[in-house]
Amino acid sequence: MEFKAIIDAKARTQAACAVVGVYEDGELGIAARRVDAQLNGMIGKLRGDGDFSAKLGDVLLLPAPAGAAAARVLLIGLGTHAAFGRKQYRKALQSTVHALGKTGADDATVYLALEQVADLDVQYRARAVAEVFCAQMYKIPDLKTAAKPKAPRLSSLSVAVADARGSKAATEGLRIGAALGLGTSLSRDLANLPPNVCTPTYLGTRAQALAKDFPSIKTKVLDASGIKALKMGAFLAVTQGSDQPPRLIVCEYSGGKKNAAPICLIGKGITFDSGGISLKDPPAMDEMKFDMSGGAAVLGTLRAVAELKLRINLVVIVPTCENMPSGGAVKPADIVTTMSGQTVEILNTDAEGRLILCDAITFSRRFKPAAVIDVATLTGACIVALGNHFSGLMSNHEPLANDLAAAGIRADDRAWRMPVGEEYVDQLKSNFADIANVGGREGGACTAASFLGKFAKDLHWAHLDVAGTAWLGGAQKGSTGRPVPLLVDFLIHCARAT
Ligand code: BES
Ligand code: MN
Ligand code: ZN
Repeated sequence: MEFKAIIDAKARTQAACAVVGVYEDGELGIAARRVDAQLNGMIGKLRGDGDFSAKLGDVLLLPAPAGAAAARVLLIGLGTHAAFGRKQYRKALQSTVHALGKTGADDATVYLALEQVADLDVQYRARAVAEVFCAQMYKIPDLKTAAKPKAPRLSSLSVAVADARGSKAATEGLRIGAALGLGTSLSRDLANLPPNVCTPTYLGTRAQALAKDFPSIKTKVLDASGIKALKMGAFLAVTQGSDQPPRLIVCEYSGGKKNAAPICLIGKGITFDSGGISLKDPPAMDEMKFDMSGGAAVLGTLRAVAELKLRINLVVIVPTCENMPSGGAVKPADIVTTMSGQTVEILNTDAEGRLILCDAITFSRRFKPAAVIDVATLTGACIVALGNHFSGLMSNHEPLANDLAAAGIRADDRAWRMPVGEEYVDQLKSNFADIANVGGREGGACTAASFLGKFAKDLHWAHLDVAGTAWLGGAQKGSTGRPVPLLVDFLIHCARAT
């Protein structure tokens, strides 16, 4: 899909389809007013006759309207003007994509970014167009044998803006939105693949492919012997019950000054979480193929960052393995020595994410990072606390936490701050080792994060628990690609700040 910005507040562009917004409370959007004049008041008449009420998300296609510059006009309901905000704007864009897909138009001009949206400047308005288009066009890499439906005809999309300044901002917004689309799609693809395809080895080859595609990325993939050499005792304990060999993926992106401290992203890469000897109940166990969503998200973020050529240095680390039961599997009560030297009593083998992540956090220290952010489908407790609306955000560093929360708001991929620290670490006391890997039911998302915090002392560290946000169950079952938008937005701002 090609995205471009054009200057045209008057709906004069010839295109296969012009998309204009109409408010519910009588008002026409900026471009709709022009089109209405071109069509001798047809839009007003349709409204008066009750044929188009312009409720948010309503669509009406006017084929071959005489007088219009475009071959088709697509009316999009924006709801009431007073209520029109970023959420409504996105919804209108979603309806646009859906409706355009049903037409034969191969190009379209979208005039919706001309409207004022609270808190969204023209760059963000354009960016949302590209983002929503990419997200809606996304197809799960399914293994259905029936013939695939034909791809929609649409191949080129223009976003109309008022003037040259708007055009510059919108061009940048579209570039960001398209890169986000690619990053999010990569993340979703990886997470949606079945666990017999998306193994640790497979993730390693995909990370190596990124290094082939982008000269700015260097990838190293360590195997079991490399992980042993690093003395990652906790990571090794999780993988020991599985026949699939583990991998430690390390990608270095260099876009900033040579000596600038990198930001380190760590993603949980459990390609299947059976729970191990502390085996999960069968009903929803299949969903644990999504347990590498954090790893998928940091690789997707890396892809977007490389695509955007951001002027930052970034290190992406994905410890990846399966969590399986077997005669050789780690047992409840086993004690392991982590890479940091701290010992851990594994009371529950299903609390495996923190075990692979704690060693990855220790490993990240060798890059002398400016900040370390780990992303993980870490706890069911986080879903209980926040549902699938907000990711959990924990941190030991206020500015980092604030920056991540702000990025989530800007990117419509929000995270909600939750506490970590001493009180929760107290729940992790063990009589036999430095720390236990579980701390009871109460505050489960916070005890898990506080466990990680023990390994992040003196680092600027944040943790995103995306158990509720990275994928959806039910009829919409599949990966959402979250929190790629939050992370990319955060990194864009880091690049601007340096
Ligand atoms: N991967 C799960 C967390 C999870 C659960 C993600 C449901 C998405 C949906 C994690 O490894 C896990 O099993 N956590 C346990 C921790 C418990 C044993 C302390 C959990 O949340 O039940
Ligand atoms: Mn688990
Ligand atoms: Zn897990």
